Amino acid sequence: MSALLEVDSISVSFDGFRAINNLSFNIGEAELRAVIGPNGAGKTTFMDIVTGKTRPDKGDVKFGTPSKSLLKMNEAQIAREGVGRKFQRPTVFEDQTVAENLTMALKAGRNPFAVLGWRPSKASVARVADLAAEVGLAAQVARKAGELSHGQKQWLEIGMLLAQEPRLLLVDEPAAGMTLAEREQTTALLVRLAETRAVVVVEHDMDFVRRLNCKVTVLHQGSVLAEGSLDHVTRNPDVIEVYLGR
Ligand SMILES: Nc1ncnc2c1ncn2[C@@H]1O[C@H](COP(=O)(O)OP(=O)(O)O)[C@@H](O)[C@H]1O
Ligand SMILES: [Mg+2]
Repeated sequence: MSALLEVDSISVSFDGFRAINNLSFNIGEAELRAVIGPNGAGKTTFMDIVTGKTRPDKGDVKFGTPSKSLLKMNEAQIAREGVGRKFQRPTVFEDQTVAENLTMALKAGRNPFAVLGWRPSKASVARVADLAAEVGLAAQVARKAGELSHGQKQWLEIGMLLAQEPRLLLVDEPAAGMTLAEREQTTALLVRLAETRAVVVVEHDMDFVRRLNCKVTVLHQGSVLAEGSLDHVTRNPDVIEVYLGR
């Protein structure tokens, strides 16, 4: 299987501190991957590098088929190439309805000049309904986003990212602040989304990671410490020492 994202021996230092240290990472076209590791392991910095927020000091990040280096692109260009990122805190417009939030996300994906005079077409109304259904918010389309539960806001934001049709979705700690029922629905959603795109999920909640039922990459001090099934990596003595045995 050829990789969609190929991260090759990247390093980055902040004031002499090596946050990412010779890290390599690959993910395929329709693959789900969990990334775990102690606080400060470099998980968020890794996502910052893939999305162009942080530049590595060395190494390369290649994406797509045929692959292009993302290092020559800015954040907006990388997003247009098909890399979507979900931050920890939801950034939905609370005074707008679910449908309005999704409609804005569809518009935002267009050429900025096309937004002038833009009116929702039949196709975009249908697409908004599809997006709402995809993230489990079909019954909430007319509600203000501010009235949604924390978990529902997170799903709305994922729906807004899907409006841009990303080929790779990066999700940082989605389970934080969610109820158990919401966490279970979120794992089901991420598993479903990864059937048609690549999805990388950073998460601490081990029950959540287990339900993702996917390959796991363990980061430690900016490098890959172990990789494989959850059972495989949780039996690894190094992983137990630095991450689990606390
Ligand atoms: N912009 C930055 N400036 C300085 N240090 C940073 C910056 N970003 C991250 N770090 C440091 O890099 C290390 C990795 O951080 P991070 O990627 O946030 O870890 P994780 O998400 O795995 O908890 C931490 O020690 C953090 O303090
Ligand atoms: Mg982090």
